[in-house]
Amino acid sequence: MGKQAQLDLSNIPKHIGIIMDGNGRWAKKRFLPRSAGHSAGASTFKTIARYCNKIGVQVLTVYAFSTENWKRPPAEVASILDILRKYLKDSTNFKDENIRLRFIGDSSVLPADIIELIHTAEEDSKSATGLVVNLAVNYGGRDEVVHAVRQIVKDCKNGVLTEEQINEQAISARIYTAGQPDPDLIIRPSGEYRLSNFLLWQSAYSEFWFSNVLWPDFKPRHLDQAILSYQQRDRRFGGVHAGENA
Ligand code: IPE
Ligand code: IPE
Ligand code: MG
Repeated sequence: MGKQAQLDLSNIPKHIGIIMDGNGRWAKKRFLPRSAGHSAGASTFKTIARYCNKIGVQVLTVYAFSTENWKRPPAEVASILDILRKYLKDSTNFKDENIRLRFIGDSSVLPADIIELIHTAEEDSKSATGLVVNLAVNYGGRDEVVHAVRQIVKDCKNGVLTEEQINEQAISARIYTAGQPDPDLIIRPSGEYRLSNFLLWQSAYSEFWFSNVLWPDFKPRHLDQAILSYQQRDRRFGGVHAGENA
């Protein structure tokens, strides 16, 4: 449990987003193939998801594969998809943990067997009452907005929506995380300070936490550090701090 005693359990972020970065550098440091870094990263993901479930996080969104990651060598892409395949086949990964698994991103272009496994995993875990994990696979924030815009155009054509009804809520209702709270806290390990197309719409008022730790080395105590930092922030959402007068 480590530092958990210091966490204010009444102020745990409802939704945490994590950009699981640094697998390649972790492997390189050990003279291992990049795929070994991705395997180690998958194992870290399982540990962190369980920990989030334990401390009462409602939603955890993890960036596993971006719409830009197809630029990588085919063998690396294949190894990442294979790790995903293995993870999904072992349903104990989420079922026994009372974790609900959901996928965000454009899954339509993924291999057919993975699409099927995703469907099964989502179905099998849909009655779980604990943490909701959004696994972002072939996810891009801009691509997500494009999908939402297309849906809005369709809904307008079908008479479901009028032009006047197009507002922020209408867009939020048509993105992958519809119905979920926006991320309170976004974590990026590995020493990079960018979003890389992660949750662009949803992160308008997220708090950010960066660390040099490479994702496979990320431990629950690092999550504690991130949450402790979050709990010291003053979230104003454009307003003034409570109790302050003009
Ligand atoms: C993140 O680790 C995993 C994916 C992007 C799929 P990287 O593979 O980007 O690791 P680095 O950034 O090269 O160290
Ligand atoms: C972001 O990491 C995507 C994932 C972690 C899945 P990248 O390694 O792809 O990001 P860049 O290329 O450094 O921006
Ligand atoms: Mg990277």
